[in-house]
Amino acid sequence: MIVFSVKPLFSILLVSLSLLLAVIVLSPSTPFSERSLARNPLLSDSRSGKQDIWTVQRTVEWRPCNWWMEGALTALPVESNGYIRVDCYGGLNQMRRDFCDGVGIARLLNATLVLPKFEVAAYWNESSGFADVFDVDYFIQQMNGFVEVVRELPAEIALREPFQVDCSKRKGHFDYIESVLPSLKEHHYISITPAMSQRSDRYPLYARAGRCQACYNALRLSRTLEKKGSELLDAIPKPFLSLHLRFEPDMVAYSQCEYAGLSPSSMKAIEAARGDRKPWTGDAALVWRNRGKCPLTPNETALILRALSIPTNTTIYLAAGDGLMKIEGLTNVYTNVYTKATLLRREDFTSMHGNTKAALDYYISINSDSYIATYFGNMDKMVAAMRALKGLFKTLFLSRRAFAQFTSQGLKGEELSEALWKVHRDDFMLGRGSALPDCFCDFKL
Ligand SMILES: *[C@@H]1O[C@H](CO)[C@@H](O)[C@H](O)[C@H]1NC(C)=O
Ligand SMILES: *[C@@H]1O[C@H](CO)[C@@H](O)[C@H](O)[C@H]1NC(C)=O
Ligand SMILES: *[C@@H]1O[C@H](CO)[C@@H](O)[C@H](O)[C@H]1NC(C)=O
Ligand SMILES: *[C@@H]1O[C@H](CO)[C@@H](O)[C@H](O)[C@H]1NC(C)=O
Repeated sequence: MIVFSVKPLFSILLVSLSLLLAVIVLSPSTPFSERSLARNPLLSDSRSGKQDIWTVQRTVEWRPCNWWMEGALTALPVESNGYIRVDCYGGLNQMRRDFCDGVGIARLLNATLVLPKFEVAAYWNESSGFADVFDVDYFIQQMNGFVEVVRELPAEIALREPFQVDCSKRKGHFDYIESVLPSLKEHHYISITPAMSQRSDRYPLYARAGRCQACYNALRLSRTLEKKGSELLDAIPKPFLSLHLRFEPDMVAYSQCEYAGLSPSSMKAIEAARGDRKPWTGDAALVWRNRGKCPLTPNETALILRALSIPTNTTIYLAAGDGLMKIEGLTNVYTNVYTKATLLRREDFTSMHGNTKAALDYYISINSDSYIATYFGNMDKMVAAMRALKGLFKTLFLSRRAFAQFTSQGLKGEELSEALWKVHRDDFMLGRGSALPDCFCDFKL
């Protein structure tokens, strides 16, 4: 039926369009000047006036998939195969990612979860890093029905340390049931560090749902952190953009890229973080850069933000570590930039350690009007997912690859700006730059 009704409409449209075209071409004074044609966003690739990137009409949106949000739950096994503790290392968001994976594994193995061990750097309270960061009661309550969680181990096993099963070095898609379940059954209490590249999409649905629920619906910052975060949030003028700018010595060292014009103290910090990763030189450096491997500098970030028509008086919260280099490249152009250091009371700021600061940046970034990241790391993935969960769609990842390729082709000024606009407009429109795997699905708008 629809086919029949569309066809005549289409023909009419075609005829009118041809007529219109004839009028335009034949008329001595064309009704549309070239200029206005170029400005019409439907007719050209050009930016329309001063509208920023967020006004672009999206065609795809990432949302949590129905299969776990609607929670058609499989009943938990009557008998548990044993107790599992997840041991997590690294930065806050890396520990969180590994913990989420561990919850999925615990459910896969029909095990009972005990609270995880977060790497105890000197600054965490020894007993439980996890409870210092996340709200334990809330976690247990939210996991009800998804996986069994206990706060305390039964007395007979509480006294011994778990048998350690470190999967972090395993390659490929090994089978947890085959390789970990026997240890669990033998020792009754094991600790695991999940493999980094394991694909959880082959798990049964109940294990995948447990993982999604743990990661995105059950982890809320501890009351202390949440209070600090909301104080900080209150202090930022609204609306604002949270900008995750990752141009710190460790990042630059890790990237193996070289930058000109850094201060001697920055160079020293980079050298100290470099280890045996030497920077690429010559042609290899260019190829590396064109593959999008080099972190954007604050200066390059400012240039891209301008290309996206983000007004230079936009209020920006800088979600970044204290070691950020060459910050004036951004603040010379964007003048309303706020940092933790300027917003927090001095004694608060100096007493805070790295992971608390990371937690605050996370909190601000999942509550900001818009979020832009210059990198797609663990924090960015977590923030993008939480923003998608909350229906906050103004999320964008700047393309290091596009920037490198355009500049190496010699694009400059307005031409460069136009090319950058198109790439990011398409990413934003198609939800491409911020594609979220696993627990999220893309919906056509
Ligand atoms: C876990 O329990 C389910 C039934 O609830 C069962 O189908 C599955 O085989 C069990 N898996 C393991 C590893 O025990
Ligand atoms: C560590 O524990 C002490 C006492 O339980 C508490 O006063 C302090 O706030 C905790 N530290 C952190 C970082 O939560
Ligand atoms: C970036 O740095 C270059 C060289 O220092 C300067 O000419 C340019 O204006 C800067 N661009 C921005 C956006 O700050
Ligand atoms: C930025 O400038 C525009 C136009 O000059 C103005 O309308 C807007 O209120 C300004 N925004 C901020 C946050 O100052």
